[in-house]
Amino acid sequence: MEEGLHNLESEALTSLGDIRERKALEAWYRSYLGKKGAITEMLRGLGRLPAEERPRAGQTIHRVKERLESAYRGRQKEIEDIGQLSESVDITLPGRPIGPGCLHLSTKVLREIYAVFAQMGFQIYEAPDVETDELNFELLNMPPYHPARDMWDTFWVSDKVLLRTHTSPGQIRAMREFYPEPIRVILPGKCYRYEQITARSEHQFFQVEGLAIGHNITLTDLKGTMIFAARQLFGAERKVRFRGSYFPFTEPSVEVDMDCILCEGQGCRVCKHSGWLEIAGAGMVHPVVLENGGYDPSQWTGFAFGLGVERPAMLKHNIDDIRHFYRNDLRFLRQFG
Ligand code: DAH
Repeated sequence: MEEGLHNLESEALTSLGDIRERKALEAWYRSYLGKKGAITEMLRGLGRLPAEERPRAGQTIHRVKERLESAYRGRQKEIEDIGQLSESVDITLPGRPIGPGCLHLSTKVLREIYAVFAQMGFQIYEAPDVETDELNFELLNMPPYHPARDMWDTFWVSDKVLLRTHTSPGQIRAMREFYPEPIRVILPGKCYRYEQITARSEHQFFQVEGLAIGHNITLTDLKGTMIFAARQLFGAERKVRFRGSYFPFTEPSVEVDMDCILCEGQGCRVCKHSGWLEIAGAGMVHPVVLENGGYDPSQWTGFAFGLGVERPAMLKHNIDDIRHFYRNDLRFLRQFG
């Protein structure tokens, strides 16, 4: 009997090891340990043995029964684990390839702008996104009661702290750092405005501010700089025009337009049939601003400008919605990779 039992045990364990799914596992259990299973039958057969052999035979069968039961439970757990694994991850699938990243369109345009102004000797000066009311408004010639503050809808952090509404506060920071040297810097950065988000306006966007300060700087220098930049960025045949405007921190102030790059000045939907696109606000630095920066306005003059980044990029690449810049949709971003 012992030999038969031994053979039964090893046969049972071998077939158990081959089982991969639950149904077969249950069938295995029935055939060895179930009510009509081989082990159960053997236990029942004990009664037919001579009385003195029964205890030893009973013990041996029980030990085999326990070993098979524990092997059964072990296999059951393994099969469950495999089942769970294959439901969540198929580890036999090849991984998804991770391609090289690419620069964001805004970064690319910014870098193009840096390169153009670098040719004219402008260095980059960075100023913080979180600014004080004093730098964003007051020192730019807009005291608290000044109505021109309404030109910029503002995200306030506290009474005196805000998210800069333009890159112009960097002018004061640059002047205070460079005084008494002449200055030629561009100040790129993110600006924030408390505005409705639409296809044409975002509440965050990039600007590149420019500032040149010296002893003989005139409006002509501003014009030359703007014309050179427009032609470098948008094509050698660009026409540029200057319209009188108003900003509290420049006097005189101008708006810089170039002929529409889509219709070449003929008039189209994009330029609202005017033939012109606005590219920058600019002007001669106001004497009050020069003074606030530490430069004596009877000795020094300067010009400043503020260029948009996303709008010109939209024109150049035929992008009809400014919100694409901040959605991080790879299908959009990859087109400029
Ligand atoms: N800061 C202005 C704006 O965001 C743009 C601007 C206009 C900047 C004239 C200048 C400037 O430096 O001289 O609307």
